[in-house]
Amino acid sequence: MRLHVADHPLITHKLTVLRDKNTPSPVFRQLTEELMTLLAYEATRNVRVEPFEIETPVTTTTGVKIGDPKPLVVPILRAGLGMLEGMVKLIPTAEVGFLGMARDEVTFEPVTYAERLPDDLSDRQCFVLDPMLATGGSLGAAIEFLFKRGAQDVTAVCLLGSPEGVNAIQKQVNGRDVTLVLGALDERLNEKGYIVPGLGDAGDRLYGTV
Ligand code: PRP
Ligand code: URA
Repeated sequence: MRLHVADHPLITHKLTVLRDKNTPSPVFRQLTEELMTLLAYEATRNVRVEPFEIETPVTTTTGVKIGDPKPLVVPILRAGLGMLEGMVKLIPTAEVGFLGMARDEVTFEPVTYAERLPDDLSDRQCFVLDPMLATGGSLGAAIEFLFKRGAQDVTAVCLLGSPEGVNAIQKQVNGRDVTLVLGALDERLNEKGYIVPGLGDAGDRLYGTV
C-alpha cells in the first residue's frame, strides 16, 4: 500500500478551521469540498490518460485526455458526499458510484445499507472518498467491496486518518494495489473510536445529527 500524507500549509490551515468546534456547517461543507480538491491533485497523480491530438492556433500537437474506462469515484455515505463535488470538479468525466455505510458506535463494525455501483469494476480506477479513517472498518469494507467486483486499482482519500486505521488498512490490503491519501495523520483513537485530536463526527458536522 502506498501512503501519502499531505504536507502543505494551505491544507493544514483549512484542516485547522475544520477541526475547530465553533466552525458552522456551511463553512465546514465549503472547506471539506476545497480540501478534497487540493487532495485530488495527489490522489489523481496516476490517473490513466491517453494521447489526444488537437490543433492549437499555431500547429497540431498531441496532448492527453482522461482514458477509458473512465475513473469511478465512490463517496461513502453520508460524510463522503461532502467530498464529492471537490473531486468531480477536477475530473468532470468521472463516473460516480455510491456506498452507504454506518459504523455501529458500540462494536465499531461497519454496516452497509446502500450500494449503487457497476457490477464489473475490472480495469476501473476507483477513488473512494471518506473524510474519516478511524478504526478502518468502513474504509476496509469499502475497499473489499470494490475488489470483489473486480477492481484492481483503488485510491482512498480521507481528510484525517489515525495510525490504528492506517495499520488496519495496510494489513488488509496485503500487497494489492491501494493508495491512501490523507490530509493529516492524527495521534490516536480514543475509547469511543474517535480520532484525536480529530474534528468530531464528520457526518453530523456536515449535515446535522440524525
Ligand atoms: C464515519 C466516517 C467513516 C467512519 C469512520 O461515518 O465518515 O465512514 O465513521 O470510522 P471507522 O474507520 O471506525 O469505520 P459514520 O459511520 O459515522 O456514518 P455517517 O457518514 O453517516 O455519519
Ligand atoms: N467517525 C467520525 O466521523 N469521526 C471520528 O473521529 C471517527 C469516526
